[in-house]
Amino acid sequence: MGQIALITGGGGGIGGAVAHRLAEAGMTVAVADYDRAAADQVRDEILAARGKADAYSVDVTQAREVKAVVTEIHSRHGRIDVLANVAGGSIYTKRVEEFTWAEWKQVIDSNLKGTFLMCREVAPVMQKQKSGRILNTASNYGVTGSALRAPYAAAKAGIITFSKSLALELAPDGILVNTVAPGPTDTPRVMEKESPDARQERWYPVIPLGRTGQPGDLGEMYYFLTTPESAAITGQTFHVNGGLVMP
Ligand SMILES: NC(=O)c1ccc[n+]([C@@H]2O[C@H](COP(=O)([O-])OP(=O)(O)OC[C@H]3O[C@@H](n4cnc5c(N)ncnc54)[C@H](O)[C@@H]3O)[C@@H](O)[C@H]2O)c1
Repeated sequence: MGQIALITGGGGGIGGAVAHRLAEAGMTVAVADYDRAAADQVRDEILAARGKADAYSVDVTQAREVKAVVTEIHSRHGRIDVLANVAGGSIYTKRVEEFTWAEWKQVIDSNLKGTFLMCREVAPVMQKQKSGRILNTASNYGVTGSALRAPYAAAKAGIITFSKSLALELAPDGILVNTVAPGPTDTPRVMEKESPDARQERWYPVIPLGRTGQPGDLGEMYYFLTTPESAAITGQTFHVNGGLVMP
C-alpha cells in the first residue's frame, strides 16, 4: 500500500518542495495550508507530474480545524505515514519592546502551537499503526536567536525541544520524530522582500558553501527522514544552511 504524507504549509516554498519530493517518491500527499489557492496549485502541479495529491484547508493554530482535517485525511486513506509540519514563519521584524502581546502570540501560535496541535492529532493514528515519521520545522534562529525576530526564535527553539520530548514519548511505538532547521532559503515569500542581488551580497560571503539554500535542498532533507535508510534516527535536528551555523 502506498504511503500517505500530510504536509502543513504545503502551499509554501519549502512545504511545496517537500510535497513534490514525497510525491515523486510515490507517496500520496495531502497538501494542507490556510492559503487554499496555494495548496490547490501545488496539488495541481503534482497531479500534472502524474503524482498523487489532494489539497486541504486548515489553519494549524485552530484546534477544531486541525482535528477536522486529520480526521478527514485518516478516514479517506485509513492511515497517515508521514506528518511534515512546515507551516510557520517569522511574520514580523521588530524590536522586543515594540511587539504587542497579540503579535507575540500570533508568531508563537503559527509555529509552536500549530506544530503541537498537529502532532497531538496525528500521534494516536501513528500509535495504532505502530509506525510513522514526524518532521517538524525549526530554523537556525531557533539555536542562535535573532535580533528583531525574538518570538520566532523562541518558537523555533521550542519546536526543537518539543520534538525531542515527542521522540522520547513515541519511540516505543516505532514512531520517529525529527526536526529540520532550514537556514536562509530562497522561497518566493523571502525573495519578495529582498532583491536577488541584495540577498547575495548579504549571505554569500558569510555562508561557507557560498550560496543560500533552495527549496529543493530542503525537500531532499525531509525526504531522507521518511526513508528506511533513516530508520535509526530520532530526536535529532538537521541544519540545512550551507554551514552558516554548526551547533
Ligand atoms: N525560507 C527561509 O529562509 C526559512 C528559514 C528558516 C526556517 N524557515 C521555516 O520554513 C517553513 C516554511 O517557510 P517558507 O519560506 O517556505 O515560507 P512560506 O511562507 O512560503 O510557506 C509557509 C506556508 O505556511 C502557510 N501557513 C502559515 N501559517 C499557517 C497556518 N496558521 N495554518 C496553515 N498554514 C499556514 C502559509 O500559507 C504558507 O503557504 C516555516 O516554518 C519557516 O519558519 C524558512
